[in-house]
Amino acid sequence: MPSNTLSPPVPAAVLCGLAGWVPPRVVTNDELAERLDTDDAWIRTRTGIRRRHVAEPGQATSDLAVAAGRLALRSAGTDSVDAVIVTTTTPDRPCPATAPVVATRLGLAGAAAFDVGAVCTGFVYGLATAAGLIASGVARRVLLIGADTYSTIVDPLDRTNAIIFGDGAGAVVLRAGHADEPGAVGHFDLGSDGAHEELITVAAGGSRQRATGGEPTHAERHFAMRGKEVYRHAVTRMAASARTALSEAGWKTDDVDHFVPHQANLRILHSVADDLDLPRERCVANIDAVGNTGAASIPLALADAVARQRIRAGERLLLTAFGGGLTWGSCLLTWPELAPHL
Ligand code: COA
Repeated sequence: MPSNTLSPPVPAAVLCGLAGWVPPRVVTNDELAERLDTDDAWIRTRTGIRRRHVAEPGQATSDLAVAAGRLALRSAGTDSVDAVIVTTTTPDRPCPATAPVVATRLGLAGAAAFDVGAVCTGFVYGLATAAGLIASGVARRVLLIGADTYSTIVDPLDRTNAIIFGDGAGAVVLRAGHADEPGAVGHFDLGSDGAHEELITVAAGGSRQRATGGEPTHAERHFAMRGKEVYRHAVTRMAASARTALSEAGWKTDDVDHFVPHQANLRILHSVADDLDLPRERCVANIDAVGNTGAASIPLALADAVARQRIRAGERLLLTAFGGGLTWGSCLLTWPELAPHL
């Protein structure tokens, strides 16, 4: 080998398209209080949520994903990608994955298409997966969609969970580029702890419940969460993950212009910001208007903040998520010049 041979630089994944889409139907706290033993003041003070969007009967996750994906492609100014990743906890069916049908409906048949499951951390795991496809040369352009219809798995009479979750989809397009250009995603921290799988579950519908036999009960068919324990884990794991990503990048907390966390609960987001010594004003939150939208929450929060010019080109962002599994993850980027579609 000649000693002066240089290997080509590994391509970085650069964000070049962004969009969010929520179903039109809005459910306010007051509307929930008509059927649940709760009230607007309790929901607002405990969660920061005022309303959420809910899919129509018959509307599935792929429908939301297609809507967001189409707008993200438009924002990126492209109609072709090499891979489509859908990250969701509410796939259309247990089999097959949701991404192939989404790709085909977007006119992207032939592209690689698969789902990533990491519950509410899905979007950050999806970003890392897309970055890996681009770094390995498998893809030059990737459409990543976070989409969830929690209304299809939450028991509408469960007052603890029905108040928190909303439906929605957010999408980004990533292209091959250079690590030092605005929009390059990097310095990932990803983690998990399966010892706490019972904290967030849908017990039935998978091989565990089928292997043990018996008809699933009403409770087993619905989403269950041990809220107080989840709350504690969310604060400590998100703060730790954010710190790891910052130290990997050599950033100080003060270098972060905007902290864009998974929108779990406003109190969780503020506690994480406090733990990091980050002024709460730098925490981007749209949970009041959409609730917790699972894998869609970070791209929806980004699209909303960019559309309102709260986030501008050149500003430095820390994205951090936490979800069932348990799973958590963070990554950093400098915001690029781009026009989101909402
Ligand atoms: N309206 C009114 N009261 C309610 C209620 C509701 N919607 N939901 C629960 N309560 C009641 C409880 O029954 C309990 O009553 P009790 O003291 O008589 O037993 C009381 O309010 C306090 O319940 P608790 O569960 O301790 O409340 P909390 O302050 O922990 O808030 C959550 C509950 C679910 C909002 C909170 O635990 C939370 O946000 N957890 C994390 C959820 C999350 O972010 N999940 C996503 C992670 S990705």
